[in-house]
Amino acid sequence: MCGIVGILGKTAVASQVVDALKRLEYRGYDSAGVATLECGRLERRRAEGKLRNLEEKLSRAPLSGAIGIGHTRWATHGRPNETNAHPHATDHLAVVHNGIIENFRDLKEGLEAEGVRFDTETDTEVVAQLVTREMRAGKAPEEAVAAVLPRLKGAFALGFLFDGRDDLLIGARHGAPLAIGYGDGEMFLGSDALALAPFTDEVTYLEDGDWVVLSRGGATIYDVGNAPVSRARQKIQPGAYMVDKGNHRHFMAKEIHEQPEVVGRTIAHYVDLATGTVRLPLDLPFDFKALKRLVISACGTAYYAGLVAQYWFERLARLPVEIDVASEFRYREMPLEPGELALFISQSGETADTLASLRYARAEGQHIVSVVNVPTSTIARESAVVAPTLAGPEIGVASTKAFTCQLAVLLSLAVAAGRARGTLSAEDEQRLVKALVSVPSLMSEALKHEHDIELLSRDLAKATDVLYLGRGTSYPLALEGALKLKEISYIHAEGYAAGELKHGPIALIDETMPVIVLAPHDAIFEKTVSNMQEVAARGGRIILVGDERAAREASVETWTTLTMPAMDPIVAPIVYAVPVQLLAYHTAVFMGKDVDQPRNLAKSVTVE
Ligand code: F6R
Repeated sequence: MCGIVGILGKTAVASQVVDALKRLEYRGYDSAGVATLECGRLERRRAEGKLRNLEEKLSRAPLSGAIGIGHTRWATHGRPNETNAHPHATDHLAVVHNGIIENFRDLKEGLEAEGVRFDTETDTEVVAQLVTREMRAGKAPEEAVAAVLPRLKGAFALGFLFDGRDDLLIGARHGAPLAIGYGDGEMFLGSDALALAPFTDEVTYLEDGDWVVLSRGGATIYDVGNAPVSRARQKIQPGAYMVDKGNHRHFMAKEIHEQPEVVGRTIAHYVDLATGTVRLPLDLPFDFKALKRLVISACGTAYYAGLVAQYWFERLARLPVEIDVASEFRYREMPLEPGELALFISQSGETADTLASLRYARAEGQHIVSVVNVPTSTIARESAVVAPTLAGPEIGVASTKAFTCQLAVLLSLAVAAGRARGTLSAEDEQRLVKALVSVPSLMSEALKHEHDIELLSRDLAKATDVLYLGRGTSYPLALEGALKLKEISYIHAEGYAAGELKHGPIALIDETMPVIVLAPHDAIFEKTVSNMQEVAARGGRIILVGDERAAREASVETWTTLTMPAMDPIVAPIVYAVPVQLLAYHTAVFMGKDVDQPRNLAKSVTVE
């Protein structure tokens, strides 16, 4: 992962570089650094840990150069300490890097055999040394970079700054995103438009294999064969990248509370409120009716959204679904019949495994549809059809509003598929759309339980292990609940299909074990009640998340009940996500954890 930025400015750029890095911290935050030219000579400041450590260093030892590059790191090769922090430098250049150089060991051994000494454990230093070697042999920076790029294997984006060259930055993109931004006598380079939004409203996304030479006068882009190419400039919508916490303490809190609005906006994009029908604003190059199978792949929370969708597509459209996490899917060599549909779900649109799965499915002749939140992302650009989630920028590392927006899109698609395949009647569709349209207000109702959830979280914070149970679409939500809790509070949590309890996990249950049961009163509620009884009989402490009827009919002693509003069970996973998210959030806050930037994680996972 990692975020990279480069600025060719008019005055000192270090503080702008740090501002841009703050907007890229979602890509990693275990160390950071800046390099500028001070009177033409390379100078660096680097620091382990969060960006504020780098800021402190810069305030003690400022940099005044008008050209600079910066980096925020998520460690892949080498521990997250200052030595391994980027930019990496030689006497000729400094480089920042996002991604992995897969063949760095071979390259390093070759250089070491020539007597080159390495200071760091990183793969990036190999790039710095290779380009330096070419320059020592007499090549200009542009020629040196062009000579080295074909030798690098893996997925990466690079930004170079050269000693003594006050009007030159070079960027390269190979499998990891990189954008350039245009200013008035200034130029910018960044991992995404989000980083560049404060400086420019016009950007170009480099294509895979492109590299770019930037001066204050503009950019020259070259393709993988070193031929000059032109790439489209895009306007950034004003306000599209507004990223502040509003009145909230954390981005995650803001994003949880935004859900009624952004889920409402997303639903309005896919349904015709006047007729109460789904109206897909998508140009689908296939007929749902002709499909024999749907393949879904994604990672993490987005995968759990896919798991929920599996129930919807199978139940509403009678369309068999094959789903797998993208890190497995990409290597499974699953036989796929050409002309079928493959669906990929990703908030960032940059997740390396999801992208690789998409490419596999495309090579196997599948129609590619992606559900993404970042419309300019690589996954969006490589999909035949993009079904956008309109969640707006999600900054908290733990996905919340993107998840519920994904669910809203997926339910709309499943209803459209059901209509096309003749498995839903017009009345069914109207009922389902009515349920979907009621989701924003149901989410607002669910948010009203925040105070109770906050109180409950104080007890949950004492637990060392927590179990989440659910059946049907509540099962993937149980998986999501456990993921949310563990990733931000570091409490060990597991999600299980409630019926699986007796096949193993029941052995864990005792009076210290909180068991969170997600149980809307649906067709299989009675079955879940049996599982709750099994837990209660062994002294487990049940936290029931269900509607009033479920609470009334559960006939089992619970530790506490969070009463959700009554709703059509089809939309329960979207609404029940709210208490699940709030519970994780308040537990982590109570424990004093860094909820927006939990340890070891990054928002955009561009390495496999
Ligand atoms: C968990 C979380 C991750 C992401 C996963 C996929 O809260 O956010 O599990 O869902 O890394 O990321 P995207 O959706 O960007 O492909």
